[in-house]
Amino acid sequence: MKKLSLVFLGAPGAGKGTQATKICEKYNIPHISTGDILRANIKAGTPLGLQAKAIIDKGQLVSDDIVIGLIKDRLAQDDCKKGYLLDGFPRTIDQAVALDSFESVSMAINIAVNEDEVVERIAGRRMCACGESYHISTYSKDTCAKCGGKLYQRDDDKPETVKARLDVYNKQTAPLIDYYAAKKTLYTVDGSQSVQDVFASIVKVIDDNN
Ligand code: AP5
Repeated sequence: MKKLSLVFLGAPGAGKGTQATKICEKYNIPHISTGDILRANIKAGTPLGLQAKAIIDKGQLVSDDIVIGLIKDRLAQDDCKKGYLLDGFPRTIDQAVALDSFESVSMAINIAVNEDEVVERIAGRRMCACGESYHISTYSKDTCAKCGGKLYQRDDDKPETVKARLDVYNKQTAPLIDYYAAKKTLYTVDGSQSVQDVFASIVKVIDDNN
């Protein structure tokens, strides 16, 4: 199998993070999530985190320069030599063009889910500080099954922010679907299936095309 340099596309709440964890475990590649990197900076109170929090809480995008710099540094690390999965990057055409200037993306996998479903998924999502994520329809406890930590709702998962995030997605990120289609590296999976079936669909797309 060739180097797996993957990009996950999909609306907020489509299941990118859920599937990225499983795919990275299966193919033994690092999971690089700009959302997770930014939230870690917020938690640590870094200057970047302080700047990012106000933007994220409004559902807007952090500036291209900042996230492009973060990703360029991260992809230069040794563990990315064998491949990687980008979750939440690129998110604008400018970010995609920048990525193409220093990396060659082998596949962009779009996890397609309709808007009503993503709103429902986000409304029911609960997080643990360890990174695990749950949905209230399938997990009713308020502590994490992995580490026992207290579950909480992400600040940007409140309904008023979700609407802004979806608007930003439709205007700035959805055009990436055509961008990668034009490069013939776009693969779309039906993200409305169960977690296991979405996973199986992504594995099939990767194994059939790489
Ligand atoms: P980020 O963290 O990337 O958020 P997002 O793209 O909005 O994606 P989410 O994490 O909300 O959803 P997901 O697709 O990972 O879904 P999940 O698997 O959790 O970004 C946050 C913010 O950071 C941005 O708004 C922006 O401000 C900033 N940012 C990040 N990257 C940036 C960039 N490149 N440029 C500029 N700014 C950037 O699943 C959701 C829920 O559904 C969970 O509860 C899960 O359990 C459930 N679920 C998952 N799959 C299924 C299924 N198949 N069936 C039923 N339920 C499911």
